[in-house]
Amino acid sequence: MKHTIGIIYSTVDGHTHKICKHLHKQFQNAQIESELYAIEAFNQDISSFNTIIIGASVRYGYHNKNVIEFINTNKENLNQIKTAFLSVNLVVRKPEKNSPETNPYFIKFMNKIDCKRDFIDVFAGKLYYPAYPFFDKLMIKLIMVITKGSTDTKTPIEYTNWDRVNSFGNKIIKNIQSPTKK
Ligand SMILES: Cc1cc2nc3c(=O)[nH]c(=O)nc-3n(C[C@H](O)[C@H](O)[C@H](O)COP(=O)(O)O)c2cc1C
Repeated sequence: MKHTIGIIYSTVDGHTHKICKHLHKQFQNAQIESELYAIEAFNQDISSFNTIIIGASVRYGYHNKNVIEFINTNKENLNQIKTAFLSVNLVVRKPEKNSPETNPYFIKFMNKIDCKRDFIDVFAGKLYYPAYPFFDKLMIKLIMVITKGSTDTKTPIEYTNWDRVNSFGNKIIKNIQSPTKK
């Protein structure tokens, strides 16, 4: 049976888009139809998808509120299909905060949405000082000092564990190929 996945992302500096694009390619390689949308550009009927994946990054402690609003507005349709939620933030690089159950932003995010969730995960993001405006650079540097991260403003660091992104995609693929197993 044909299965269509819709991937909707909210990004500021492009890293959540990169992760979602990676998943999109993974599904296409597995011969599963996949469509990728920025949340601002999504204007499709949710019921035309069998799975919806929603990814969002964290800025100053919060996910884009439009994402939460989108989920809660569409919860009835989302509850009829498979759903997956992923968060991208820098705190995931800390072993004690690197799971959906221990990442404080993801816990907050999940508490704000009123919708079933079939697949969830958190991914470490990218630290990209050269792209940040003065104030953000200063604030991120301060956060990095407090959390013992990199304060080298010249070198971008991608903390994302791509094997983990692949495993997340594979779980969704396996569930489509044999829906009774998870
Ligand atoms: C202005 C700013 C604020 C951020 N605030 C947080 C934060 O509060 N907690 C955190 O873990 N990461 C924080 N980050 C890190 C981002 O979540 C990370 O860089 C992520 O890869 C950004 O994804 P995006 O490019 O899709 O927006 C922040 C980054 C920026 C630039």
